[in-house]
Amino acid sequence: MKIGFIGIGNMASAIIEGISDKKSVYISSSTPESTLEKAKTLGVNATKSNRDLVEQVDIIILCVKPEMLESVSSEIKDLVGNKVCVSIAAKKTIKDLENYLGLVPIIRVMPNLNATIKQSTSAITRNERVTEENYELVKSIFSNVGEVFEVEEKLFSAFIGIAGSSPAFIFKFIDALMNQAVEEGMDFNEALAITVSAVKGSADFLQQSSNTAQELVVKVCSPGGTTIEGVQSLDNNNFNEIVNEAVAATIKKDKLG
Ligand SMILES: NC(=O)c1ccc[n+]([C@@H]2O[C@H](COP(=O)([O-])OP(=O)(O)OC[C@H]3O[C@@H](n4cnc5c(N)ncnc54)[C@H](OP(=O)(O)O)[C@@H]3O)[C@@H](O)[C@H]2O)c1
Repeated sequence: MKIGFIGIGNMASAIIEGISDKKSVYISSSTPESTLEKAKTLGVNATKSNRDLVEQVDIIILCVKPEMLESVSSEIKDLVGNKVCVSIAAKKTIKDLENYLGLVPIIRVMPNLNATIKQSTSAITRNERVTEENYELVKSIFSNVGEVFEVEEKLFSAFIGIAGSSPAFIFKFIDALMNQAVEEGMDFNEALAITVSAVKGSADFLQQSSNTAQELVVKVCSPGGTTIEGVQSLDNNNFNEIVNEAVAATIKKDKLG
């Protein structure tokens, strides 16, 4: 199977890094010059144009910015035939893609920033024209750069709230968490390393536990202990409501398109 990528920015480069058989990868960027340069860096095949790419490959992965998707689609539409088109663009639905490309096999994937370190949390969905074999193949491409969850398209906005955008929320939480230790005199980098280790360990603990996050909060808090003081402070300051509102705002924005 030949896999083609159109738009070779941060995301496409990260996904290509995860593919071991680089000979199967073809790329097309905004100009032939940048395509050649990027192909050299990534160790993959360059093509002359987006149309040339579509003629050569079996699967087309569209990695351009959402606002470029319509024009790139109209450029390649007559060559797509029954080839699978994959889009990773935020806000563009399968219906949008069908409007741009026609009734062809379409897969929509939403990776996140962590793909760049092969720890993406990605959502995947498809239209009814995609065969099981092609769906599994595309899933495996994204599994190489992290975990892939099958999510109904109507829940993609919710997914973006808790996985697409959440790295920024978690970075903010880490920043807030470590600040007080720095105030107490701890070196910034030491506080960062300690906080990241605690966040990572807690996420792994939760993943391996049969308890919910809420149940673990109760387990960690011994009566009269130190942790309960902090948890009560979070509750008194409406921590849950603040985070809920942030996720809701993200979901609302995504739904607006
Ligand atoms: N970054 C993320 O964390 C993230 C997460 C989930 C989904 N996504 C989605 O992934 C897609 C790509 O995001 P990105 O962050 O990788 O963007 P990016 O770094 O800006 O990459 C987009 C690439 O497309 C190229 N391009 C522009 N016009 C083109 C054309 N007509 N034909 C071929 N290539 C063209 C650009 O080349 P020039 O630079 O030369 O213009 C650029 O290299 C977006 O749709 C975004 O919604 C991104």
